[in-house]
Amino acid sequence: MEERLNKILSVFEGKRGALISILQRVQEEFGYLPEETLKEIATFLKLPRSQVFSVATFYAHFYLTRRGDHLVRVCQGTACHVRGGREILEVAEHCLGIKTGQTTGDYQYSLERVACLGSCALAPLIVFDDTLYPQVTTKNVVEILKNSKDAQREKGSEAEKA
Ligand code: FES
Repeated sequence: MEERLNKILSVFEGKRGALISILQRVQEEFGYLPEETLKEIATFLKLPRSQVFSVATFYAHFYLTRRGDHLVRVCQGTACHVRGGREILEVAEHCLGIKTGQTTGDYQYSLERVACLGSCALAPLIVFDDTLYPQVTTKNVVEILKNSKDAQREKGSEAEKA
């Protein structure tokens, strides 16, 4: 981890106002912001650790815990909510065996609720990684997650054979 972090930090040598950019790069590299990296960033920028931690926790797009390889986001804005968004979220929780905001034990999936995604005409909707699924039903959600899990299993058994 240290080597990967040092490589990122070297790009920002002498740039004291680079905190947000560094946090973004570190998150891209590790998928989240491990606590050790925040301490190293504070030392590198000669900033109090508390300042680095407060910036990292202030912005919703920074994550302090490791997330799954796949992100399932279920819209809970008003339009999605009235068209069954709550049930869709519950089904996703059931399929993944986790609560909203959690990550599966194998770090394959994280589940999040999001406010309006700006596509209310397509409500209710979910976003699986970068793919938006419009007008989903609970049955669709079960299928989407089952297909993904099957694909994971296939990938795993192919990797074992190789
Ligand atoms: S409420 Fe879900 S997209 Fe607007």
